[in-house]
Amino acid sequence: MSTILVTGGTGYIGSHTTVELMESGMDVVIIDNLENSKKEVIDGIREITGKAPHFEEVDLRNRTATFAVFEKYPDIEATIHFAAYKAVGESVEKPLAYYENNLLSLINLLEAMKKFDVANIVFSSSCTIYGQPEEMPVTESAPIQVATSPYGNTKQICEEILRDEVASGSTTRVIALRYFNPVGAHISAKIGELPLGIPANLVPFITQTAIGLREQLNVFGNDYDTPDGSAIRDYINVVDLARAHVVAIKRLMENKQKKPLEVFNLGTGTGLSVLEVIKAFESATGEKVNYKIVARREGDIEKVWADTSIANEELGWIAEIGIEETLRSAWKWEQTIRK
Ligand code: UD1
Repeated sequence: MSTILVTGGTGYIGSHTTVELMESGMDVVIIDNLENSKKEVIDGIREITGKAPHFEEVDLRNRTATFAVFEKYPDIEATIHFAAYKAVGESVEKPLAYYENNLLSLINLLEAMKKFDVANIVFSSSCTIYGQPEEMPVTESAPIQVATSPYGNTKQICEEILRDEVASGSTTRVIALRYFNPVGAHISAKIGELPLGIPANLVPFITQTAIGLREQLNVFGNDYDTPDGSAIRDYINVVDLARAHVVAIKRLMENKQKKPLEVFNLGTGTGLSVLEVIKAFESATGEKVNYKIVARREGDIEKVWADTSIANEELGWIAEIGIEETLRSAWKWEQTIRK
């Protein structure tokens, strides 16, 4: 049985990926410092898979503690690196914390992998690195644009760190996955997204408004150059996204890479506007969402959706779950956690 180290494994995407890895017969060691997640997530994973992953409460900024995890689990064959700060707005207020956490964690992980002869890493990147692309849908070869937030910059720099490390002749092999907008929850409603405080992201705000926790949803802008004027994104089901990680891990472990660093877009290939997402939620759940159009949010781009053909062809992976089913899963999760 292969052992995979999942950093940030109690987080939103990390927990869903842990479930998919375990259901594919892999053993998972989670590293998480629980700064932005809860230990009870492990219970949800156990209830779904029938088995608990190994869990180490470790902060990746602590190199000694990180090395100790590799010492304790000598069978680790690959890593998936989710652990990072991810709030765009917060990163503008606390840039140093973002650079320290997101860069140092990756560097310490790579150092540990070198020391303990672990070559394979899947890295969580983001479509934010494309900024507002000139051509849509956006392909992996679209130019990287100057980052509009420290968060986005950390993703760019982390990709550069990985590129330089691979170019140095090291044995490290990388698959960087550029996520579009992950939404929804596991169908069992035993794990899902757990935003702390007021959610910044659209779907948790919709579900919290529908359940009455928020009075109304602000739709940021209806004067974009899009069919209905609201901004367009590519919303991908988190379980579909998680499954792509299993494929990527197998590709690394089976030496199927075409080059030592590969990059794939993970999206559905379809863009939806904010107003279309609200409508899809209402029709999928029968709930009304109280919303109001307000000014654009600073730093938002107008539209972005993925060209997924390279991921589809090379990985043999495709996003399968439709938006209504995805939004129903988010709603079921919201209802479960408010009980
Ligand atoms: C952005 C980044 C993404 C990053 C994420 C982290 C881009 C294209 N995407 O996602 O890479 O990982 O931040 O948080 O840069 N909206 C509302 N009302 C709300 C909340 C959101 O109208 O209350 C709108 C936004 O204006 C946007 C859409 O919903 O048009 C999606 O917003 P959100 O869920 O925050 O994700 P992004 O900003 O696209």
